[in-house]
Amino acid sequence: MASSHVMKKPVPRMQPAAMMMFSTKYWSRRGLSLDSAMFDQQRHRGGQMSRRPSFCPINEKFDESREDSGKTAVVFSLKNEVGGLVKALKIFQEKRVNLNHIESRPSTRVSDEVDILADCSCSKAEFNELLQLLKDHVNVLSFNTPAHVWAEEAAGEDDVPWFPMKISELDRCSQRVLMYGSELDADHPGFKDEVYRQRRKFFVEVAMNYKHGQPVPRIDYTPEEVRTWGVVFRELSKLYPTHACREHVKNLPLLVQHCGYREDNVPQLEDVSVFLRERSGFTVRPVAGYLSPRDFLAGLAFRVFNCTQYIRHSTDPLYTPEPDACHELLGHVPLLADPRFAQFSQEIGLASLGASDDDVQKLATCYFFTIEFGLCKQDQQLRAYGAGLLSSIGELRHALSDQACVKTFDPKTTCNQECLITTFQDVYFVSESFEDAKEKMRDFAKTIKRPFSVYYNPYTQSVDLLKDTRSIEAVVLDLRSDLTTVCDALAKMNTYMGI
Ligand SMILES: [Fe+2]
Repeated sequence: MASSHVMKKPVPRMQPAAMMMFSTKYWSRRGLSLDSAMFDQQRHRGGQMSRRPSFCPINEKFDESREDSGKTAVVFSLKNEVGGLVKALKIFQEKRVNLNHIESRPSTRVSDEVDILADCSCSKAEFNELLQLLKDHVNVLSFNTPAHVWAEEAAGEDDVPWFPMKISELDRCSQRVLMYGSELDADHPGFKDEVYRQRRKFFVEVAMNYKHGQPVPRIDYTPEEVRTWGVVFRELSKLYPTHACREHVKNLPLLVQHCGYREDNVPQLEDVSVFLRERSGFTVRPVAGYLSPRDFLAGLAFRVFNCTQYIRHSTDPLYTPEPDACHELLGHVPLLADPRFAQFSQEIGLASLGASDDDVQKLATCYFFTIEFGLCKQDQQLRAYGAGLLSSIGELRHALSDQACVKTFDPKTTCNQECLITTFQDVYFVSESFEDAKEKMRDFAKTIKRPFSVYYNPYTQSVDLLKDTRSIEAVVLDLRSDLTTVCDALAKMNTYMGI
């Protein structure tokens, strides 16, 4: 990366978009996420269900003991004629599928039809049988778990872009690569190096073949790649004691101890991922190229970080026009091992789910000036916690020098700051602590217009949409359980410690 004293180029920099491994070009997308291989059809849903329709709850006994039982939903359309709904509901009765509630509204696609959303409880096998029968009698528009249907419904009514509801759906995000890392610009140091370009294609294939849940493939790095990494590791390590935040200084030796961080060894992402999972719940996955800000930030919502695995070109070890494994491993990973930083990162990710393009861009800018270029105060001194700084000798020195302009981090104003591409930043933003930054981001997230809130469920590694009393009640039950545990701990302290 950048190093002002050795560079031939004026101020070699990684482009902001590249550094974040996402591009400023992005788009919104919609789609119905399918729950499993059994749910093997995807239907375009032209109409939308009203969220304030005629409401008809039908509560019947739900047999929790049935194997593979669970809640799901189907949306279908009916001709607006007497008896049509009764006939359709008889199918549910025949298949002994419990209805939790149904909703109806006039179709926005066809004038004489009515769209019906049926939220039911049954096993997947039963649901498949139900679907087959329904398709013989009605026009099935979509089906999935209720949360997905609601997400789709919200998308239709309020133009909410599709977003992953569970961690495995990040496969879709991480493979929606806008530009492959093997497509090098003409001014890239490796542009004319055919061997390097072939090597980059190999890394693209590794990332594109990766699926959630698999171990990250181990890379047999070449001696040349190891030497390049070694230079970066050695030179940056000299600066960390005086420039990096205490969390980075604390965690880097742990990575040396547990993940093979050495001058003569490039750490493997799989080892890093295992280490991070134990420390903060974060994992990393390989990525082939630039993602949209929306797709990149979505990973953070699930505590997943998209990482490159390739090494910059050997001709200029202290410069790279794009993020590489040196940037990820030395800049990002030590901070991701810190639980408070991990929480802060996830807050940004969760705020991005379903947000408008404008709001995602604001969040991406906040990400840029914190996770990539953030400063913090520790022991009355400025320290760097941004990965773009911690992987750049030149800008790390500059950001902590008298030459740099430093302002207090405030998402409301920071989100409007220009991200500079070819020079050092005009402004760096300082936070009192990660906790302070997290609270500010949380307040900022409240200003983002979404017809729902999201709640991350760490047990299922999925997000719940909080948009009705039923979904909120489930979260309250979880919180009540946590509070009971805390109260129990306090009571024991009182008993055994005489507090
Ligand atoms: Fe980065």
